[in-house]
Amino acid sequence: RFSHVPEAPRDPILGVTEKFIADKNPLKINLGVGAYRDDDGRPFVLPSVREAERRVTGSHFMEYLPIGGLKDFNIESVKLAFGDHAEVIKHGQVAVVQSLSGTGSCRLMAEFQARFMPNSKIYIPVPTWSNHHNIWKDARVEQASYRYYLPQTRGLDMDGFLEDIKNAPRGSVFMLHACAHNPTGVDPSLDQWKVISKAMLEGGHFPFFDMAYQGFASGDCDADAAAIRIFLADGHRLGCSQSYAKNMGLYGQRVGAFSIVCDNPKEAVAVESQMKAIARPMYSNPPLHGALLVSKILQDKGLKSMWFTEVKGMADRIMLVRALLRQKLEGLGSQWQWNHVTDQIGMFAYTGMTPEMVDRLASEYSIYMTRNGRISMAGVNTKNVDALAVAMHAVTSG
Ligand code: LMR
Repeated sequence: RFSHVPEAPRDPILGVTEKFIADKNPLKINLGVGAYRDDDGRPFVLPSVREAERRVTGSHFMEYLPIGGLKDFNIESVKLAFGDHAEVIKHGQVAVVQSLSGTGSCRLMAEFQARFMPNSKIYIPVPTWSNHHNIWKDARVEQASYRYYLPQTRGLDMDGFLEDIKNAPRGSVFMLHACAHNPTGVDPSLDQWKVISKAMLEGGHFPFFDMAYQGFASGDCDADAAAIRIFLADGHRLGCSQSYAKNMGLYGQRVGAFSIVCDNPKEAVAVESQMKAIARPMYSNPPLHGALLVSKILQDKGLKSMWFTEVKGMADRIMLVRALLRQKLEGLGSQWQWNHVTDQIGMFAYTGMTPEMVDRLASEYSIYMTRNGRISMAGVNTKNVDALAVAMHAVTSG
């Protein structure tokens, strides 16, 4: 009956985890998926989350949430993204629903675009998180790309970026990584964001911010939302995807928020109703537990400041292992420049290693990462950094 069904290719990121699991070497290292690990290589549950769990346990029925999710969670989420005192929140301009984390938010946005921004294209940076392509493809939205990363400098291609904004048809949707760009770890500076915002206004484009790493770029959630706040100050109407997978370590809870800033409350009510109309046939309503944990943390002053400290702790540990990895590679006498390992920010180092080098790391050293040469720095620690540096040096020499 299903002989005509071909096997789908492995996912370029989660497929790495599958290969890692199949490897029998006890010293294997997984640097594929962006999931935080502590210095012993173990998954990390934030103490603020454990405390929120304790407070939440036994206090709720297991009823369905409304289609749009938990109200308190939604309110706190948009405050976290747009600022506690954001005018657009005060004026009732924000449509928001709880979503199935970053992927779920993007999927809702893509579907919203297909329905209500007809014939608009989605502009996606080169490179980007591999799943972005799948998401907009499944929503049947035409994709275009914009220049973002310059391999020669391992930095931002600002000129190319601006040129592509200028040449895009009016009313295009631009998918922007709010901070800690995945996979490159290269973000525009604040001054560059200001220029990008103006160019986007001039072109009449709609910015959609994917913010999967708020807190992970600098360790400060407000600083990491600066790009969005610049766009808001410029009067943009915009969309935003938020995920609590990384910054609260709630990966498997699938908890995030999808919001759109509208012209006025009437529009916001209509847009929110359509977000729900999209969500209902897809998954009916979002899961409860993660949203309870997030709202507990964000509503309680003490828990919130505890969480801020913990996010900063994770971001700092990553910066530390970045410095260590670079130091070890240079210490081994590598002929490659490794300054980008410490210049880039967020969870990933975009190393410049070729797919062949990455394949050798897996087959000869049991070290796993995505074939674009991206290392999840969150998986590097003081115990495995030597082995990683030795292996990277070996495959990049000669
Ligand atoms: C990643 O890029 O590794 C993460 O965003 C996890 C995922 O779902 O791909």
